Amino acid sequence: MTADRIIAGAPNEEDEPFETSLRPRRLTEYIGQNKVKDNLKISIAAAQQRGEPLDHVLLYGPPGLGKTTLANIIAAEMGVSVRTTSGPAIERPGDLAAILTNLQQDDVLFIDEVHRLARAVEEILYPAMEDWALDLVLGKGPGARSMRLALPRFTLIGATTRYAMMSPPLRDRFGSVYRLDFYDADAIVQIVARSARLLEVELDEGGTREIARRSRGTPRVANRLLKRVRDFAQVMADGSITTEIAQEALARLEIDQLGLDDVDHKVLLTVIEKFDGGPVGLDTIAAAISEEADTIMDVYEPYLLQLGFLQRTPRGRVATKAAYEHLGLPPHGRAPAGQPTLWS
Ligand SMILES: Nc1ncnc2c1ncn2[C@@H]1O[C@H](COP(=O)(O)OP(=O)(O)O)[C@@H](O)[C@H]1O
Ligand SMILES: [Mg+2]
Repeated sequence: MTADRIIAGAPNEEDEPFETSLRPRRLTEYIGQNKVKDNLKISIAAAQQRGEPLDHVLLYGPPGLGKTTLANIIAAEMGVSVRTTSGPAIERPGDLAAILTNLQQDDVLFIDEVHRLARAVEEILYPAMEDWALDLVLGKGPGARSMRLALPRFTLIGATTRYAMMSPPLRDRFGSVYRLDFYDADAIVQIVARSARLLEVELDEGGTREIARRSRGTPRVANRLLKRVRDFAQVMADGSITTEIAQEALARLEIDQLGLDDVDHKVLLTVIEKFDGGPVGLDTIAAAISEEADTIMDVYEPYLLQLGFLQRTPRGRVATKAAYEHLGLPPHGRAPAGQPTLWS
C-alpha cells in the first residue's frame, strides 16, 4: 500500500501526532519557499492595513511540501480562526452552505483537495468567493424564486496536488496562486535539524546530511526518515545519529542515495526495460507495476521529473540518460540506424 510507504509524500495515520508536533506555527518558522513567503508577507500586511480579509489563496504542489501548514500559518498571521474541510468531504451543496453560514467574520476556510469538489458544490462557492453571498433557490418549477443571503467575509484557502484538474472558473476566483516547489538541499537540512531539535534527538552534521539527501526535497519525508533513523539509533546504538548510523538505518529501509524506493525503481525499470526507454503512457506504466496511475502521478513522477530521470513528452514518458546511469544500466542502443539516441 502506497499510504504506508516511507517516501510517499502523502500523510499516513502514523504521521498525525508527530506532524502536529513538528508543524511550524508562524511564517518565521516556515523554512524555505522564500518567494512564496515574501509575497504572502506583502499580501498579509496590505490586507491588515486595509482592515480587510486576505484575498482567496490557492496553494498547489506535490504532497508533503507544506500546503496545510501554510494555510494554518496564514490564518495565524492574519489573527483569525481557520475552519478546515476537504473537497471530497463536502458532498452536497447544502453541506457547503452550512459551513459558509457558520463562519465568523474574516475567518479562513481551508479546503484541502479542492480539485475534488463536486460541480454543484463549486457553484455555491462562486458567489460566496466573489460577493460573500449565498444564492438560494426556493421552491421548484415555474414558481421557484431565488434569494440572496449575505455571508460573513472570509478568506478561502484551497490546496491541491492537481492544479490541472481544477475547473477554470474556480481557479480564476483565487486572488493569488502559489506553487510550492521541492525544497533545496539547504532548506531540507534546516528542516531536519529543526525537527531533531524539537524531538531532542542528537544528530550530527553528517547524519543530518544523510537524511536530508534522501528526503526527496519533501519536509514530510524528511521528518518521517528522521523518526525511523531515531528509532534505529536508539535500539542499535546510543541514540545519537551519526553518518554511519543514518546510512545503515536508511539502507535497511531500502531507500537509495537519492531517496528512491523500489516503486521508483520499478517505474524507471519498466520504462527502460519493458518499453525500451519510452515514450510510454502513464497508464501503461501503472498497469505494468500494479500501482494506481494517480499515485504515480502525484507521488512518484514529480520527483523523478525533478531529478531529470523522466521526461514528459506528448507521446508519453521517456527515461533519460541520468536514469540509466543512476540504475547502473548501460545506455540503450535501440535507436534505429541513422537516428540519434536520446542523448547523442
Ligand atoms: N516549510 C516548512 N518548514 C518546516 N517544516 C515543514 C515545512 N513545510 C512542511 N513541513 C513539515 O512537513 C509536514 C507536512 O506538511 P503539510 O503542510 O502537511 O504538507 P501538505 O499539506 O503539502 O501535504 C508538516 O507537518 C511539517 O512538520
Ligand atoms: Mg495537506
